[in-house]
Amino acid sequence: MTDYRRLRVALLGAGAVGSQVAALLLRHGQELADRAGATLELVGIAVRDPAAKRDADLPAELFTTDVEPLIVGSDIVIELMGGIEPARSHLLQAINSGADVVTANKALLATHGPEIFDAADQVGAQVYYEAAAAGAIPIIRPLRDSLAGDRVQRIMGIVNGTTNYILDRMDTEGAELADVLADAQRLGYAEADPTADVEGYDAAQKAAILASLAFHTTVPLESVHREGITGIDKAMMDAARHAGYVVKLLAVCERLTDGSGESISVRVYPALIDRTHPLASVHGANNAVFVQAEAAGNLMFYGAGAGGVQTASAVLGDVVSAARRHIAGGVGVGESTRANLPIVEIGRVTTSYQITLEVDDEPGVLATIAGILSEGRVSIATLEQTVVTEANGEPGVARLVIGTHKALEQDLSETVRRLAASGVVERVVSVLRVEGD
Ligand code: NDP
Ligand code: HSE
Repeated sequence: MTDYRRLRVALLGAGAVGSQVAALLLRHGQELADRAGATLELVGIAVRDPAAKRDADLPAELFTTDVEPLIVGSDIVIELMGGIEPARSHLLQAINSGADVVTANKALLATHGPEIFDAADQVGAQVYYEAAAAGAIPIIRPLRDSLAGDRVQRIMGIVNGTTNYILDRMDTEGAELADVLADAQRLGYAEADPTADVEGYDAAQKAAILASLAFHTTVPLESVHREGITGIDKAMMDAARHAGYVVKLLAVCERLTDGSGESISVRVYPALIDRTHPLASVHGANNAVFVQAEAAGNLMFYGAGAGGVQTASAVLGDVVSAARRHIAGGVGVGESTRANLPIVEIGRVTTSYQITLEVDDEPGVLATIAGILSEGRVSIATLEQTVVTEANGEPGVARLVIGTHKALEQDLSETVRRLAASGVVERVVSVLRVEGD
């Protein structure tokens, strides 16, 4: 057996992901050592409650609540606690005490990434975070390294497993959101506070991380436009299906070019995509990231976006990379943010829309609506009318589903406001963007 150098590995957190990381590290120790060129010795696991039942059978003597002594003297610190504090302080302490760090904490990186990367740069340490976006799918390295010689134009990603699981069951089983959320929590996909998933915060954090890498620009979380899926109901799913679409929570990161130069847009919202689009066939808690690059063309990354053992795969890949670098020495690879592209607000983004209205079923109504759309610079691509109610031959209510050509978001929202106030619209049922066309 090769006599490898011994590296001390500290694990902070043994929940859904951490317990699986510890179990795999212990089970496959020899194999990982052969790949890393170093023996990875798990020296301790910091948790809140050492007596709590874990998802894996782990040696009781490894557990501690005393985090700081565990960090000091470790070569690699794996942070899988989640949240901002104390995770941020522990990562900074680890970096400043000479460790390389591995984290899956998108909430932390999306809000304090520059601080953590700067701290690592100062001391020549490396921060690994493959699991922070899209779980088990390798997407951080492809964007940071493999595509570093290309120009990414657009990323469209399903990057939250919980919401994809929920939307998929709403689509395929006619289930309601609240009923399937509990299953997503039980399966370990959801964040500690599932609001982060259903309101799009988790996807927005991942979008900020992916866009920063893709466009070599620091993307603050506040600049990511975010909408969640709580407004999506069964009627919208049915209408989408009828029109040949499926509803997905999408993270869209886009390079925009106009007369004044280049900028980027980063946004997360539930959108309609054509059922023939590759992203439409992403089911369950799976994630997929569709990347369009100038030279490479279209690339699709697909797989498990959540789940303890799946995410542990990405974390352990980072641990092996950290170990190799620790053995080889040298300065870590810093994040490149020098392009520093301006980030535009959602109002300046152009997409197609599907507007569903309930209107009075009377003469002239369609003409009024067409007039408002035309004045608002919103061009109609498709129009479908169905009668919702008829009262003994009297005018009733009709449902209009209007598909638009590409329109500027600020024009569209002002037009929808004018439609709602027009006197002929009973109810704006939904306004959904159409992506991927
Ligand atoms: P869990 O909530 O399941 O586990 C968190 C762990 O951290 C627990 O073991 C907890 O201890 C420990 N912990 C939390 N706070 C402290 C503290 N102050 N001091 C000591 N220990 C603490 O989280 P997950 O495993 O689901 O997620 C971990 C990270 O991975 C998060 O950043 C998450 O966003 C990310 N991630 C999760 C994925 C998933 O599918 N679950 C997928 C991709 C990324 P105790 O058990 O004693 O309470
Ligand atoms: N809650 C997250 C999800 C975990 O559902 O995608 C993976 O980051």
